Amino acid sequence: MIILGIESSCDETGLAVYDTQRGLLADALHSQVAMHDAYGGVVPELASRDHIRRIVPLARQVLAEANTSLTDLDAIAYTAGPGLAGALLVGASVAESLALALNIPALPIHHLEGHLLSPLLAENPPSLPFIALLVSGGHTQFMSIEALGQYTLLGETVDDAAGEAFDKTAKLMGLPYPGGPALSKLAEKGQLGRFKLPRPMLHSDDLEMSFSGLKTAVSLLVRDASVDDYPHIAIEFQEAVADVLSSKALSALAKTGLSQLVVAGGVGANQRLRAKLIERCTQRGAQVFFPPLRLCTDNGAMIAHAAGLRLAAGAPFDISTGSFNVQPRWDLASLQPF
Ligand code: KG4
Ligand code: ZN
Repeated sequence: MIILGIESSCDETGLAVYDTQRGLLADALHSQVAMHDAYGGVVPELASRDHIRRIVPLARQVLAEANTSLTDLDAIAYTAGPGLAGALLVGASVAESLALALNIPALPIHHLEGHLLSPLLAENPPSLPFIALLVSGGHTQFMSIEALGQYTLLGETVDDAAGEAFDKTAKLMGLPYPGGPALSKLAEKGQLGRFKLPRPMLHSDDLEMSFSGLKTAVSLLVRDASVDDYPHIAIEFQEAVADVLSSKALSALAKTGLSQLVVAGGVGANQRLRAKLIERCTQRGAQVFFPPLRLCTDNGAMIAHAAGLRLAAGAPFDISTGSFNVQPRWDLASLQPF
């Protein structure tokens, strides 16, 4: 089955063509990062308008790259939530109207399910069950993936997401949006141990996390520091986040008795976090899986892929009627096994 995937939940327009037999055939992305940079964060209305401009040309591009025409498609998958309402509506309306015209199903997909199943697209995928650490701009949570569609929340941040903390901390140091990649680049020039930041909730006996206090602690350091100190603060910040996430990952593995950890979401691109998770988990005999780097951030491939798994499992989907809903807030644990 050939599926066109559409991701438009935030500031990236992602399109992909995925074949349940042959795998990923084409994948294209337009990032709005440069457009939002001037405002220091995503401006929802600008995001929606840009998705409108990009989505059809990108769809044409991936179909051509996949050597596929619209009439070859068996289904169209789109991110139906969570995300920015206006941005979601762009992808949803394009997907549903195309599917209606082609007389095929349109599949509404949960953005985070896309992220946490994306490691299955890798060459050496994990097997079920596994633990997923979803660590992005909007989420920091541990889930256990017992079966496809059956996800249990084990613990999450009580305030800011780790990616949000990266973004806010980077902003304090005058770095461009999104802050994660910029801050980790700055950290490469830093020396560990020059500054000390807290490891919030490191010893709480649960899988809850907190990152908003880190940003406050950084703002106090930055207030009294010179620009030359910023790389040293950046590396300490990154280390604090990696320490907390890797300790909680070990607890999640211990509490569930599982031995595979999958890391998904934009912050999973962070090299220091990757190294620390690999080191600490392998010491305990557990395996860590990362999606390919380009699949770590938002993309259409993960949406088409999640839909492909549902279709391959025989999940029933109706031919599009052209009516649809998006869910800006959508609890992942509310999904049903398939
Ligand atoms: O999953 P994602 O692309 O979008 C959603 O939030 O859904 O994640 C984006 C987040 C941003 O906060 C960005 O700063 C962070 O991922 N990020 C990173 C890195 N690359 C992206 N954070 C730390 N280090 C990175 N290398
Ligand atoms: Zn995402």
